[in-house]
Amino acid sequence: MSELNILSESLKKVTNYLENNQNRNQPIVKFKKPSELKKLINFEIDKQGVSEQDFLKLIDQYLEYSVKTGNKQFVNQLFSGFNFPAFIGELFTVLANTSMYTYEVAPVATTIETEMIRLMNRYTGYLDGDGIFVTGGSNANLVAMFSARNWALPESRFEGCDRTIKLKAFISNQAHYSFETAANVLGIGAKNVIKVASDKNGKMIPTELEKEINESVSRGEKPFFVAATCATTLLGAYDPIDELAQICKKYNLWLHADGSFGGSLILSDQNRYLMKGIEKTDSFTWNPHKLMNIPLICSALLVKKRGTLQHNITDINTDYIFHDIDQIEDLGKKSIQCGRRVDAVKLWFAWKYFGLEGYQKRIDNLIAMAIFAEEIVVNHPKLELVVKRQSFAVCFRYIPTVKTDLNKFNLDLRETMRKNGKSIVNFGYVGETLAIRLVITNGALSKSDIDLFFNNLLSTAIALETELKPMI
Ligand SMILES: Cc1ncc(COP(=O)(O)O)c(C=O)c1O
Repeated sequence: MSELNILSESLKKVTNYLENNQNRNQPIVKFKKPSELKKLINFEIDKQGVSEQDFLKLIDQYLEYSVKTGNKQFVNQLFSGFNFPAFIGELFTVLANTSMYTYEVAPVATTIETEMIRLMNRYTGYLDGDGIFVTGGSNANLVAMFSARNWALPESRFEGCDRTIKLKAFISNQAHYSFETAANVLGIGAKNVIKVASDKNGKMIPTELEKEINESVSRGEKPFFVAATCATTLLGAYDPIDELAQICKKYNLWLHADGSFGGSLILSDQNRYLMKGIEKTDSFTWNPHKLMNIPLICSALLVKKRGTLQHNITDINTDYIFHDIDQIEDLGKKSIQCGRRVDAVKLWFAWKYFGLEGYQKRIDNLIAMAIFAEEIVVNHPKLELVVKRQSFAVCFRYIPTVKTDLNKFNLDLRETMRKNGKSIVNFGYVGETLAIRLVITNGALSKSDIDLFFNNLLSTAIALETELKPMI
């Protein structure tokens, strides 16, 4: 079999896989323990390469035991779904295999990334903004904090952090853990990230932020960075950017917006109000691999001021790579990576395919489906909404008739569903309460998919309930 034959056989597998994704009776996962998987697939690399038939078999095995995240019953993570034009874009990105550092080796991809950043800045309201595609939301947050540190203490780029100056960052107590990692990496220290109280819906309380800043100043510290979250990981809450911006202006602090989860809401005319004031921030993490359903990874950090990213890079006297012959700004000069994957091209293909209005409709549909799911919960006698829905996440639990440990019951419910492969949904703790967290992130979901999810959940819950022994 020639390599071209292997390719054509592999492409048939792609088509089969995509057809199966549409099949509602297909399990989302054939769950196996690690020890079982190791028996099913030979993971070791042998001295001799495999035969072509065995090579094709490996593809089948890889797909068979992987989680089908393109299945519409995969509602577990903040990414989900299958975006056809983006998949095509990814395929041809790999085919053209290049790196984003110079125009010389990536002329079209450089122009596409520049155009994507321009468009994203236009939505954000950064009139003279810039940006770069990075390797995920966590890393975008890291580069944001890095930019803020270099703005607050420019000499730290060369001298390192002066430990007599206690830099302090402020995030809400619902914010993502990546900020502590960022402070750790940047020599600021994870303990210097202050977690500001949030309200019952998960939004940062502005007066609490101001109080924390004042207390920090009175301790002789140097506040420098505040992160607002645009859709918190668990509850999907949007921090009040406009109010936080006033405080940051008053104390001259860098304001970052972490839109890793919910930043794409900015595309929606109907719902953008949740991000009111976004144009007043200094940087913004926008992760198209979540709500825009671009294959992982596709993530951008936008900055309000052109030049910010270049300022971060301390030595680009690297004429072995940046020849400056084409008189075009090489994107590598504003990235902390040297070689960098092409992640903007798949986004460009998808945006071209759906158009501005098409994408807006996909985001509006997400909110409509989340409202629909919330209504099902509210109207069902055995379902309880744990927290009011803020955006794309519906946190609820099942209440059996028989008195029982509700956290345990709901965890069993989630686990039974995961293992039977019908629907995979996540959970989290709201205070002491375990909530099933349904996240609506697949822009192609319809009401019948949500109905199917609740049918699966309720039939599993009823079966579990019959096995319950009353609590004494
Ligand atoms: C609010 C928030 N910030 C940051 C991240 C990290 O993004 P990524 O997974 O792309 O690193 C997440 C991930 O879920 C998130 O929910």
